[in-house]
Amino acid sequence: MENLKDSVAVVTGAGDGMGRAMSLAFAAQGAHLVLADIDRQRLERVEAEAQQFGVEVLTTLTDVSDAEAVQAMADATYERFERCNVLCNNAGVVSSLGTPIKDLGLDAWDWVLDVNVKGVVHGLRGFLERMLEGGEPGHIVNTASIAGLNIGAGGGAYGASKHAVVAISRSLRAELAGTNLGVSVLCPGLVATGLVANTRSLAEARTDRSEDERAAGIDPETMERLGHVLDEGMKPERVAEMVLDSIRSNRFYIITHADSGERLQAQLDEILADERDLRERFPE
Ligand SMILES: NC(=O)c1ccc[n+]([C@@H]2O[C@H](COP(=O)([O-])OP(=O)(O)OC[C@H]3O[C@@H](n4cnc5c(N)ncnc54)[C@H](O)[C@@H]3O)[C@@H](O)[C@H]2O)c1
Repeated sequence: MENLKDSVAVVTGAGDGMGRAMSLAFAAQGAHLVLADIDRQRLERVEAEAQQFGVEVLTTLTDVSDAEAVQAMADATYERFERCNVLCNNAGVVSSLGTPIKDLGLDAWDWVLDVNVKGVVHGLRGFLERMLEGGEPGHIVNTASIAGLNIGAGGGAYGASKHAVVAISRSLRAELAGTNLGVSVLCPGLVATGLVANTRSLAEARTDRSEDERAAGIDPETMERLGHVLDEGMKPERVAEMVLDSIRSNRFYIITHADSGERLQAQLDEILADERDLRERFPE
């Protein structure tokens, strides 16, 4: 999809971080916006910023883990704009990171999977059919993570959620071959966003008592550390430029960080070495 002028872009998790940066980058290209987030204040701030580009903006307070709410958001999009060209299923939380699998409760699993995976599923259910029927050029960007391709200790649930987003995106790309809808999967490394603070405040609202953070899968020490590391990460505006470039050139994998390649190569080497080893023991 070459030209975003007068297109309609829907972004979930648009209130902050990469969602905000993508929304403003699209608005700068003349795209009208549908901004969805679970946080009203953040949404209103981005709405005001986006309007400065002279585009139309619809904001919807939407919890992406709620199928009906996402459907209502899609209906509102079509009621207002009668189309959607760019769909960014981006909303996410980083809960569960740092907690070993043996210590992760079901509530913690549910939260990260409901937002990070079902949020993408709900977005596709709400928009995909109508985007295809509309017949206009379009593009779908699902936000995974480099943790969707490579994960280590303490990443069981978050990694599972992001691996699922990569799998959904790969399948979708194959299914949409020959249509005028492109697909990308965004796999960032560390990006300087409020992800940790935002996730923690959502965890607090979920459990209603801050001392229950762990029940939502929040490991305070990991979150403190991660928060500092993220501060040194890539600027979300740079990620947004990469997303824009990938929409224009229909690039599937958006691997934002230069150091990711080495880790991915090591993982592929391990897979192939084990495969060769097994073939040697079981040649037929
Ligand atoms: N920051 C990083 O280093 C990094 C790296 C890889 C992947 N990611 C992924 O990027 C995406 C965006 O994260 P970010 O870093 O910009 O964080 P962020 O916290 O700045 O933005 C995420 C937004 O999603 C919203 N949100 C959370 N739960 C929601 C829900 N249930 N429904 C609707 N909105 C909800 C939050 O209110 C927030 O505004 C996430 O999917 C995250 O997992 C982030």
